[in-house]
Amino acid sequence: MAIPKEHSPKLVSLFSGCGGLDLGFQAAGFNGVWANDFDSDAQAVYNLNFGNGKIDPRDILTVGEDEIPDCDILTAGFPCQPFSNAGSRKGVHDSRGMLYKECLRIIGKKMPKVIVFENVKGLLSTKYIDGRNLAEVITEDLSNMNDVGYNVVHQLVNAADYGVPQNRQRVLFVGVRKDLGKTFTFPKKMPRENLSVGDVLSRPKDVPNQVDWELSPQALEMIAYIPEGGSWKDVPYEHLALRFQKIRDDMKKYHSPKFYRRFARNEICGTITASAQPENCGIVHPLENRRYTVREAARFQTFPDTFKFMTDTLRDITAMYKVIGNAVPVELAKNIATAIMEQIFQGEGVIEQ
Ligand SMILES: C[S@@+](CC[C@H](N)C(=O)[O-])C[C@H]1O[C@@H](n2cnc3c(N)ncnc32)[C@H](O)[C@@H]1O
Repeated sequence: MAIPKEHSPKLVSLFSGCGGLDLGFQAAGFNGVWANDFDSDAQAVYNLNFGNGKIDPRDILTVGEDEIPDCDILTAGFPCQPFSNAGSRKGVHDSRGMLYKECLRIIGKKMPKVIVFENVKGLLSTKYIDGRNLAEVITEDLSNMNDVGYNVVHQLVNAADYGVPQNRQRVLFVGVRKDLGKTFTFPKKMPRENLSVGDVLSRPKDVPNQVDWELSPQALEMIAYIPEGGSWKDVPYEHLALRFQKIRDDMKKYHSPKFYRRFARNEICGTITASAQPENCGIVHPLENRRYTVREAARFQTFPDTFKFMTDTLRDITAMYKVIGNAVPVELAKNIATAIMEQIFQGEGVIEQ
């Protein structure tokens, strides 16, 4: 007799976005009971794929702990911007950095068996107000939570080591409630097979959401000079946009940045970011002078082709690149979730076919 999904360990997901992490955790057998995100684009895509009303649309600051169901595991990819290398680096002094405290508030009340935090690499070099490393503060806060506490481990992982065709470095924290007597071990890296740009682009083209957001005339002019595998360094000076000419004039000051990387078919793609701008993102097709389509970007993030982004009523293409770039790659989430399921929940999860 099949065991109903309701018997699976319950997942509460904070800062859920369009649901990349949630999809991976649910594929590993966790039962999503509550998700939250205040971004209307993320909500639209989440509801389209997980069912209407499946995501609470409120600002997490306004949600009482009692309004959130009890859970066995809580995940939170709290916003990266304040920690991101591309951002202001104000770290926890930025009010968004304090959203981490919101996670603590909810964990303190719910005390799930396991917590998972996901964030950008920059978190590791971010200092807390008192000068300590933020990673150290997070570990200590969780370790001392409500006298019970969590055994916390964290690791910088590259999604390409967990079945994702993309070099994308992220920090993951996994805390296991101390009374369970266990500590999580990150799964071994997987072989990097079939992860090249060419592998991804050779998949069937006849799938929904094969539309691309047009590049600006300025970007198009530059890209015309960049060969497969090249970058802005291949663009003759006179064809560079003014701001790039300034940087070229003083390369030492800018530490040779790698703008406009056009990854080759035999390379692994660079990070797909929410802005989808060619200056800082692996988003330009190796052979055609265009961005990847929404579906191609989603495939680099390992969303299955059945996951929907745009419909007749959901048409804002830049919003689709945003939610895709913000997501935790589904395969990375699934591989970490599977290890948690095996190590901590003894495989109690029910995987729906
Ligand atoms: C990096 S994304 C998370 C992506 C998600 N983990 C996934 O896999 O798709 C961070 C999300 O936090 C949401 N967010 C930021 N501040 C918030 C707040 N105060 N309340 C609710 N959601 C918030 C943003 O809208 C954004 O979608």
